[in-house]
Amino acid sequence: MIDRVHLRVPGVSLLLDTRDADVRVAHWGADLGQHGDRLDPAVLTASAAHSAFDEPAPVSLIPQPARAWRGTPGIAGDRLGRAFSSRLVLQDVSVERQDDAGSQRARLVLTDEASALRVDVELTLDATGLLLIDQRVTNTGDDVYAVAALDTTLPVPGQATESLDLTGRWAREKHPQRRRIDQGTWTRTGRHGRTGHDSTLVIAAGTPGFGWQHGEVWAVHLGWSGDHSSRVERAGDGQTVLAVGELLRPGEVELAPGETYVAPTAYAAYSAHGLDGVSSRFHEWLRSRDRHPSSPRPVVLNTWEAVYFNHDLTVLTQLADAAADLGVERFVLDDGWFLGRRNDTRGLGDWFVDPDVWPQGLTPLIDHVKGKGMQFGLWVEPEMINEDSDVAREHPEWIARPNGAGGRLSLPWRHQQVLDLVDPDAWDYVYARLDALLSEYPIDYLKWDQNRDQVELGHEGRASTHEQTLAVYRLLDALRAAHPGVEIESCSSGGARVDLGILQRTDRVWASDTNDALERQSIQRWTGLVLPPELVGSHVGPGTSHTTRRTHDLSFRAITALFGHFGIEWDVRTLTDAERSQLSAAIRFYKENRALLHSGRAVRIDRPDYTDAAYGTVSHDCSRAVFVYAALATSPNELPARLRFAGLDADRDYRVGLGLPLDPHAAEGRGVPPWLRAVADAGADGAPVVSGRALMQVGLPMPGLHPEHAVLLTVSAV
Ligand code: GLA
Repeated sequence: MIDRVHLRVPGVSLLLDTRDADVRVAHWGADLGQHGDRLDPAVLTASAAHSAFDEPAPVSLIPQPARAWRGTPGIAGDRLGRAFSSRLVLQDVSVERQDDAGSQRARLVLTDEASALRVDVELTLDATGLLLIDQRVTNTGDDVYAVAALDTTLPVPGQATESLDLTGRWAREKHPQRRRIDQGTWTRTGRHGRTGHDSTLVIAAGTPGFGWQHGEVWAVHLGWSGDHSSRVERAGDGQTVLAVGELLRPGEVELAPGETYVAPTAYAAYSAHGLDGVSSRFHEWLRSRDRHPSSPRPVVLNTWEAVYFNHDLTVLTQLADAAADLGVERFVLDDGWFLGRRNDTRGLGDWFVDPDVWPQGLTPLIDHVKGKGMQFGLWVEPEMINEDSDVAREHPEWIARPNGAGGRLSLPWRHQQVLDLVDPDAWDYVYARLDALLSEYPIDYLKWDQNRDQVELGHEGRASTHEQTLAVYRLLDALRAAHPGVEIESCSSGGARVDLGILQRTDRVWASDTNDALERQSIQRWTGLVLPPELVGSHVGPGTSHTTRRTHDLSFRAITALFGHFGIEWDVRTLTDAERSQLSAAIRFYKENRALLHSGRAVRIDRPDYTDAAYGTVSHDCSRAVFVYAALATSPNELPARLRFAGLDADRDYRVGLGLPLDPHAAEGRGVPPWLRAVADAGADGAPVVSGRALMQVGLPMPGLHPEHAVLLTVSAV
C-alpha cells in the first residue's frame, strides 16, 4: 500500500502518512508545492509509530487509545460493554482527481476485526482550498454496536498558540472568544437539539495575534443542525488538535448488524492570510455549489416588526403598496396567518389559512403582491406544535416526549412543544400540509422558522435529536424536490440554526432577531466568517430597535443592512418623505451593487482601535470595491486612524467616492477630512484618485463620526 497521500491545491497541502496501517496527518497547512509529493512523511514525524506508550506518538486521523493517544478519542462506542476499544487498521487508500478545477479526494478504508467495525473516510480538498471530511462507521459484527462518537480530528502545528470560537444568545449571536491554547481541552458543546444561538461557527487556531488580514489560521466547522461538540485540545505531549463531531446521547445511535452511522461533514479551512483567507475558502466553496442562489437577491419586506400578529388585509395591502413604491421585490407574510394564531400561545401545527382573518384565503393578498411585481413569501414553523392546537388535540401522540408515549412533556418554550418528526405519521401530516399550501398558492419563498431548544428530545423513550435532525432534512429535501422553484430561509429564533447542514437545503439564514444596526455590525461580521453575504438576511428595522430600544439614524441602519441579503422590517407606510427618499437611495445602491456585493471577496480591516470597524467587498478582478467605515462607540482619540484599505491592486489607481450621501448628522461638529468634504460637495468630480498601493499602505483619513454612524465608500479603478 502507498505510504503517503499528498492532496494539494494552490495555497493548501494535506499530507497524510499512511505507513504502519494507520493514517496520520503529517501536515495540513501551507502549500508544499510539487515537493510535497516526494516528501517522505517519515522525515516530518517526530517519533516512530505507536510502538509503546512510553514513546510519544503522532496522533492518528482517528485518534484512539490503542494508537497511544491519551486525549479525547475520535471514535467511541461499545457492544453492551464489550469491544469498547477499537484499533483501526488501514485496509485501502485511493486518491482521485475530482474535476478539472483541481479538487482531489482520498478515500480510506479502516477496519478492526476485534470490534467488528469498518470506518470509511473521504477527504476532499476542493479547488477553493476547503477540505471536506466525511466519515462513517459500519457495524460488521453480528450484534448491536452503540456509537458514542465519531469525530473529525485535525492536528495543527505548534505555532498555533491562540484559539477562536464564537458564542452568543438570542439577539446577540456570533460573538468571538479568544484564548491562549494551553494544555487541556477547550470544548464548546451545543446541546440545544438545534444548532443553537451560542453555537460556534468554527473552532479555530492561529499564530499569535492572528487577525482578519494576517496570521496563519486553521478553522473547522461541522455541517450539522443538531447537538454537536467542537474542541481545541493540547495533549500532554504538546500535540494540538481541532476536533468537531455530533454529540450523541446514550442509546441515540445503535447500529444493528450491517448498519452505518454517517457523521456530519466537517469543513476545514487553512489560510496563511488571516481570517479573511479562511472566510474566502468557505465563501468560494459555497458559491461553487450548483444550488447556490444565482439570481439577484431580491429586496425583501418582512411584515414581522411592521404588524406582528395583527393580520389585516387592508393594512397588509397598504404595506405592500408602500413596499413596492420603495422598490421592494419580495413581500414576506410572517407569523399569524394560520388557524387560531392571534398570538404566540396557539395554533402551531394547524397549517390551514385562518378563515376568520383571511375569509378569502391568502389569494387577495398574494394577487395584490404579485400585481405589484413582487414575489410572495410565507412564514412557517413546521417542526413545532402548540398544545393549544387542533392537531395536538387530535394527535397528542405526535408531541415529542422525552420518555415515550404517555410520559411527561418537556418544559415548554414560547408555549410550544416539538412535533415528533421521527413519527412517520406526524412527518407525513406536516409534509402534506406544506405541500398543499405550496400547491394551492403561488408561494416563492418560505421563511422556515424553528423557535425552541429541543433539549431532552425523545422518540419512544430514546434520545432522538439525531433522528429528528435527519427527519427535518428529509422534509426540506422532499419539499424542495416537489417545489424546486421555492426558496427557503433558515430562521431559528433568529440565528440559532446557522450551519452548513441546513444550508445544503436552504437559501439564506436569518442571522438574528435583532435589527439593531450596532448589534448587526458584529453579528454579520462574524456570521460572515463562514457565510457569504448573499446568504445572510439583513433588514432595515424601525428607528428605535424593538429588541434593544437603541435608536439609530437611517443612514447607519441602511449601510449596515447593505452587507447582506438586504431587506426591510418596518412599517414603511409611516415613513416621512425624507426617510422614504433615503431608503429608496439605499435600495437603488443595493440593486446597482448587489452583483459585486454578492460575488466579491469579503475584506475586513484590522483596526488599531476597537471602537470602529472597516470592511468591504472587492471584485475578483480588483477593479471595484465597496467599503464601510463605521464608528461603533466613542473613541478615546479625536481623530480616527487612517483607513488602510485591503484587497486592492497595488499597481492600479482608484477613484474613491461616496456610495450614499454623507449623513449630515454623522460627523456634525467633528472632523470631515478635506478629501471627503470635496466628494460630499462635488460628487464624482471631487473624488480623489489614489493608487492602490497608497490606499493600502498609507490609507485615507476618516471622519470623526459620532458613535453608531457609518459612511459608505465606493472604490473604482480608473
Ligand atoms: C421568530 C423569528 C422572527 C419572527 C417570529 C414570529 O422569533 O425569529 O423573525 O418570524 O418568530 O413568531
